[in-house]
Amino acid sequence: MPDNAVFRALCRRRFLQFLAGSPVLAGAALGAGGRTFGAYQAAPPIGNPGDALDVFDFEAVVRETMPPAHYGYMASGSDDDASLALNREGFARYAIRPRRLVDVRQVDTSVTLFGRRWPSPITLAPVGGQRMFHPDGELAAARAARVDGHLQILSTMSGHSVEDVTEARGGPVWYQLYPQGSLEVARALVARAEAAGSSVIVLTIDLLAGRNMQTSARFARMDTRNCESCHDPENPFGMKPMIAGLDPDVAATMGPNTAVDWDFVRRLRDSVRGRLLIKGVESGEDAAMAVGDAGLDGVIVSNHGGRAAQTGRGTIEALPEVVEAVGGRAPVLVDGGFRRGTDMFKALALGAAAVSIGRPYVWGMGAFGQAGVERVLEIMDAEFRRTMRQAGVTSVDGIDPSYVVRR
Ligand code: GLV
Repeated sequence: MPDNAVFRALCRRRFLQFLAGSPVLAGAALGAGGRTFGAYQAAPPIGNPGDALDVFDFEAVVRETMPPAHYGYMASGSDDDASLALNREGFARYAIRPRRLVDVRQVDTSVTLFGRRWPSPITLAPVGGQRMFHPDGELAAARAARVDGHLQILSTMSGHSVEDVTEARGGPVWYQLYPQGSLEVARALVARAEAAGSSVIVLTIDLLAGRNMQTSARFARMDTRNCESCHDPENPFGMKPMIAGLDPDVAATMGPNTAVDWDFVRRLRDSVRGRLLIKGVESGEDAAMAVGDAGLDGVIVSNHGGRAAQTGRGTIEALPEVVEAVGGRAPVLVDGGFRRGTDMFKALALGAAAVSIGRPYVWGMGAFGQAGVERVLEIMDAEFRRTMRQAGVTSVDGIDPSYVVRR
């Protein structure tokens, strides 16, 4: 293997060649730092988290430093990455209607979910295998979330166990569950998470139909490292402590061979002691079913960061019909493309109770570990607070639909 500097230069050259041939990536999703507006802000990548002006500054660092296979996996959408890009573009279809001459010296950004107050509406979305971004992985995310009391949702595919992450967070996390194709396995995972203190389980349903991650596959081809030095083909889930030891056919749920339907959900509901949310809803019909007949406690509007089905609609645009169908019976959260405080504000105005971020904190982690995640949260919280002030609203409860207009 080439030494590190040569290796990185090689990857960077291949990466730039790749970007040059990829208009979608060069535009909305990856290039220009993913910033929606404004000229490319040419500057050398930042050297420490404190220098970041926005979350895209971290993306610029990992684009240069992360091994191509890992970068590509994280950055990938499905097919031609259209839903990934549309998650971002969706925000531009809504504009903020500010009110002026409001005393905004005191602004309260807190939200309440299931009776518990959180200082910020930002939650850390479940992102699998975070040790591919930094050796501390989910522990770094947990320690960063602990600093200002952010809610963390831990993936089934985590690189650290729910027990260790809970300890690092200094309190329970919400636990994200893949259906695992077997109710018994799902129940066992729920029981383990509940024993670690998780009182909210988040069932992800948007990866059951299979997916086509072309960007990930192309980047993997550029990676000359020996993947098998970490990924043991005999033990594909060896680095996933929550599912290590499971029958690989049961553990691998991201395909169309997993028999999961509403009946599965109802039966799972009966064995969850705390709250059960469903993540990956994009229609009013499913939302109504979830909080009605299926008896679930909440809904997360998500298209898995544009890396599941290719729907052609950003999640912010799916949010209003879900909020309407739920009709205030349960909290609705949303993820997909959140990069700015203004994005958060728009989602809350459209009825979200909180938002989740994925890639931004992974960029922070890949660039600087825990300190990077902390700075990402700090930047987005500050942007959100400033947006509230600029819009003339002093509490999250006060952010109602009158503050946004569809363009
Ligand atoms: C896992 O959740 C993934 O999208 O790869």
